[in-house]
Amino acid sequence: MLEQLDQIEQTALSGLASVLDEQALQDWKVAHLGRSSPLMKVFDGLGGLVKEERPAIGRRANEVKRLLESAFAEKSEAMRQLALQGALQSERLDVTLPGRPLRQGRLHPATQTLREVYRIFAEMGFQVYRSREVETDEFNFQLLNFPPHHPAREMQDSFYIDAGVERGDNPILLRTHTSPGQIHAMREFAATNPENPPPIRIILPGMCFRYEQITARSEMQFNQVEGLAVGYNITFGDLKGTLSDFARRMFGQNVRSRFRAAHFPFTEPSAEMDIECFVCGGEGCPVCKRTGWLEILGCGMVHPVVLRNGGYDPTRYTGYAFGMGPERMTMLRHRIEDIRYFWSNDLRFLEQF
Ligand code: DAH
Repeated sequence: MLEQLDQIEQTALSGLASVLDEQALQDWKVAHLGRSSPLMKVFDGLGGLVKEERPAIGRRANEVKRLLESAFAEKSEAMRQLALQGALQSERLDVTLPGRPLRQGRLHPATQTLREVYRIFAEMGFQVYRSREVETDEFNFQLLNFPPHHPAREMQDSFYIDAGVERGDNPILLRTHTSPGQIHAMREFAATNPENPPPIRIILPGMCFRYEQITARSEMQFNQVEGLAVGYNITFGDLKGTLSDFARRMFGQNVRSRFRAAHFPFTEPSAEMDIECFVCGGEGCPVCKRTGWLEILGCGMVHPVVLRNGGYDPTRYTGYAFGMGPERMTMLRHRIEDIRYFWSNDLRFLEQF
């Protein structure tokens, strides 16, 4: 019996030595450690042995079993290592290959200008205030002192929205300028203290829409930045000082500016502000149409009717307002000749900024 166990051990170990793959390994396990393997037969037969032989045979059988089990575990670990080595060799990664470059995005040129405007006015103590893009005729025009059918409306052809509701003199439209935000803002500030409304210093940026023929000089959508300051004893001198300082911070410390009389229904007096042409330095060139000056914004003292419509008593409060076009300023700065580039999403244009 003991010799038979030696034999079982020998056969099993030499069989294991020639195992090369996983399937053969599993087959080996069934053949030598499985239910009907010769070794298990020995265990099965232990009961039939004479009492004196039993302990020695049993001990030896257990020894062979442990030995075969550990040989199996060792072999299976060795094969696992071998497979791993093989995979590492054959699936090798060349980490020295150059990677695929990630294309870096950038801010739209109009956004860059907008952010610069925010920064400059923030330094001067103005808060950014947002106002809606879809307006009523009342806010877009009437409360800003444009009565129905007033000829000043001619300057701002509008996209009226047929909301399926008969609104008479108060149709819905896409705002043609950021100025209606003045009324919303004044009313909101005034509501906090109707007897003594607080002073206001805000800018109102955002998209505006006009029913325009699209050309190199006019788009049907564009940004504006509106500004509004309301308080006690605010004068035209404050308006000029603030906007001249803005122009210097935006276009360079040496830039000269001038104010020309103009007309807007919601300001009185009204002006347009020009900066000295930085292309020709004021001599006259095609960019400034030979005038030496570039127009950058409209402005004026808030009209008493508008102050009252916003909840501010025009006998106690005064204020100034202004409106500028960031796309237009970007065009002047970078000498872009066609405003249509801004929203046509041509990467050849956008990648230059
Ligand atoms: N809302 C005017 C426009 O779109 C621009 C403007 C002019 C705004 C004068 C103002 C202002 O606040 O005072 O043409």
